[in-house]
Amino acid sequence: MSDELPKAYRGMAFLKVTSVKHYTDKTFSFTCKRPDSFRFRSGEFAMIGLANGDKPLLRAYSIASPNWAEELEFYSIKVPDGPLTSKLQHIKVGDEIVMRPKPVGTLVHDALLPGKRLIMFSTGTGIAPFASTIRDPETYEKFDEVILTQTCRDVKELDYGKALIAEINSDELLQEVVGDKLTYFPTTTREKSERMGRMTDCLRNGVFEEVTGAPLTPETDRVMICGSMAMLKEHKQICEDAGMTEGSNSEPGQFVIEKAFAD
Ligand code: A2P
Repeated sequence: MSDELPKAYRGMAFLKVTSVKHYTDKTFSFTCKRPDSFRFRSGEFAMIGLANGDKPLLRAYSIASPNWAEELEFYSIKVPDGPLTSKLQHIKVGDEIVMRPKPVGTLVHDALLPGKRLIMFSTGTGIAPFASTIRDPETYEKFDEVILTQTCRDVKELDYGKALIAEINSDELLQEVVGDKLTYFPTTTREKSERMGRMTDCLRNGVFEEVTGAPLTPETDRVMICGSMAMLKEHKQICEDAGMTEGSNSEPGQFVIEKAFAD
């Protein structure tokens, strides 16, 4: 069967879409069937996309679902003239997406040294890999405290994260694992909300410390960062200024970064 497929599709998995949810005119999430043999570590990404003639149109997407779930979930930006997302945003239940079943990434526990507090900094759809990590029991076995921050321009863009936290709080099994270890810290930068400002500024002006109880502490804090290039650069600098070293799969460190992919 696969011999009949164009070469570029060999080894690809075709996944049926099982749900689609639009959050704003800029973001949406969808779930699809998970191939039985597909394993991944929380925080990893895979190349996914749509069939497109001889060659599928693929982009890197963080897997937002926890690694124990039966379905794979993705959280995506909609770019009106983006080659993939301009089409992907119209997918419906029953449609098929294409995935290269080889997950990779650095926002994983393996790339961090042991610590007490895990802090995940995200902007926009950069929350996606952490949606997986905060639903993974291993996260709570490894850390006493888990903090997820998300900064968006507008209040409505925070809905995905808020729904995620509500889901964790209403899931009995997850609640047993998570207990009171998880803190969610959302901010907006353009539309008025309870907490305003970029997280980089919150770290510099003491608001982060006020909300979470302690400033960035290299001895006990471990950090994962996901967002735009500009955001990564600034957060990375803050971590380095605090005396932290960047980790990788081969050499774990105190912080790890990954670009929130979008087109
Ligand atoms: P701002 O509104 O002040 O630009 P974007 O949609 O441009 O990726 O931005 C998503 C969120 O990330 C916005 O709230 C934006 O704030 C914030 N942001 C943009 N650049 C940085 C940065 N260098 N450091 C921290 N946050 C940033």
